[in-house]
Amino acid sequence: MERQGVLQQLSELVGAAGVVADPVARQAHLVDERQLYQGQAALILRPDRVEQVAGILALCHEHRIGVVPQGGNTGYCGGATPFDSDNQIVICLDRLNRVRQIDPVSFTMTVDAGLVLAKAQDAAADAGLLFPLSMGSEGSCQIGGNLSTNAGGLAVLRYGTARELVLGLEVVLADGRILSELKGLRKDNTGYPVTQLFMGAEGTLGIITGAVLKLFPAPIAIETAWLAVADIDAACKLLGLARQASGDALTSFEYVSGASAALVLKHIDGARAPLDEPYEHYVLLEFTSPDAHSGLRQGLERVLAEGMDKGWVLDGVLAESGPQRDALWRIRESIPEAEKHAGGAVKHDVSVAIAAIPEFTARAAAELGPLAPHRLSMYGHVGDGNLHYNLLAPAGEDGAVFKAGPGVELSHGVHSLAVSMGGSFSAEHGVGILKAPDLLAYKSPVALDIMKMVKQVLDPHGIMNPGKIVTNV
Ligand code: FAD
Ligand code: MLT
Ligand code: ZN
Repeated sequence: MERQGVLQQLSELVGAAGVVADPVARQAHLVDERQLYQGQAALILRPDRVEQVAGILALCHEHRIGVVPQGGNTGYCGGATPFDSDNQIVICLDRLNRVRQIDPVSFTMTVDAGLVLAKAQDAAADAGLLFPLSMGSEGSCQIGGNLSTNAGGLAVLRYGTARELVLGLEVVLADGRILSELKGLRKDNTGYPVTQLFMGAEGTLGIITGAVLKLFPAPIAIETAWLAVADIDAACKLLGLARQASGDALTSFEYVSGASAALVLKHIDGARAPLDEPYEHYVLLEFTSPDAHSGLRQGLERVLAEGMDKGWVLDGVLAESGPQRDALWRIRESIPEAEKHAGGAVKHDVSVAIAAIPEFTARAAAELGPLAPHRLSMYGHVGDGNLHYNLLAPAGEDGAVFKAGPGVELSHGVHSLAVSMGGSFSAEHGVGILKAPDLLAYKSPVALDIMKMVKQVLDPHGIMNPGKIVTNV
């Protein structure tokens, strides 16, 4: 069958309501969140049933048409962008957006992959429970995208990354077969954990259409503190102290540099400085408990008193209400937006052992300084050893010119330093197309070989998200 005939058949599979035809609406699916890539696609389809996804993939497999899965399109590495106007189609999951079941006895929730993360959180809360995955993009990103990128976010320290929140998956394979593993079992040692392969695969092995997610007791007591700390070494030491003192209650421990906070205060409407004077280093930490009488406040105050005695904590404020807590979190969560207003950043998402963070930041400053002038906006999930070591053009200089010019060499410096210290060049945002060259440079040859073999077996014609992560054709 000639190509036009196949494309026609694909459109018919989803019907008119499932084809994005309007040029303005199409454009939103063809450009990535960071506007690094302008893509092209033969078709953009929005199936509303798993069987439609299966039919589309079977046809694409037969006719060797590339398929780019797309969730909320908030990814940072161009993973959801298609690059071929003749031979690639986009499959958007947004119409597969139901909560299929909530089981409050098993503490599980079964959802379609196109469910927006915030809606999943709301559904859990409506049942008096917690789905703890949380990040600045939660109003747009989808569960399928979260699982495909193995997203991290703001509560990994306590609850783990997206992968750790899953008890079952439903996946449409490249050839159109449906892998249905939605039993939601906490224990099932029956051979290779096949569903695990699809988490973090960024749509290169199949399309996730459903998942069984873990739920947790909803927090009743919440204590949030915004602290000025002496330096990043003090932040890491305070993390250890807070963990020792609170055990499981420490849910988030985020670092914010003075420079990142200043960007927010300058560019984000309504953002207010939590402390009377500016400092160079801040920590936003949160204790939570499902027990209203857990004594979290006293525990937090003990940590702060000891942190001050040791000279790690210089100043701080505790949230006294929900709105105050939201205001503190808003500063942290608005940093990416503030960086955009400041001309955009060369973003990094590195991880090293928590104990190695002070050495990493000291060496990065020493090694990058001589390479090219830049401004640093450093923040991130120190509790996970994960830093966003973002670089902006010097004041008054063009952000785009900086990114395409010195930003490239600086970025190489950040990645190679992290890897040389036993860390990762991509801790939570994935690989996509942006970091595919880094994967080739830094991943061990044996690990790369295994990845290529897995890709070959599950996607022999290389139709799943071509060009992303690794290729087999
Ligand atoms: P998309 O961007 O649509 O896709 C991402 C990748 O997954 C692509 O390769 C795509 O092909 C694939 N994919 C999508 N859906 C499916 C599916 N159903 N089956 C198979 N493959 C699929 N990330 C973090 O980890 N932590 C953060 O704290 C964080 N904060 C952010 C804050 C902001 C303001 C923004 C804009 C982004 C942030 N991100 C963060 C990045 C991003 O939101 C996450 O990577 C998120 O998981 C992507 O989900 P998505 O639905 O938008 O996926
Ligand atoms: C975050 O932690 O805010 C994101 O992962 C990083 C970003 O959005 O730049
Ligand atoms: Zn992050």
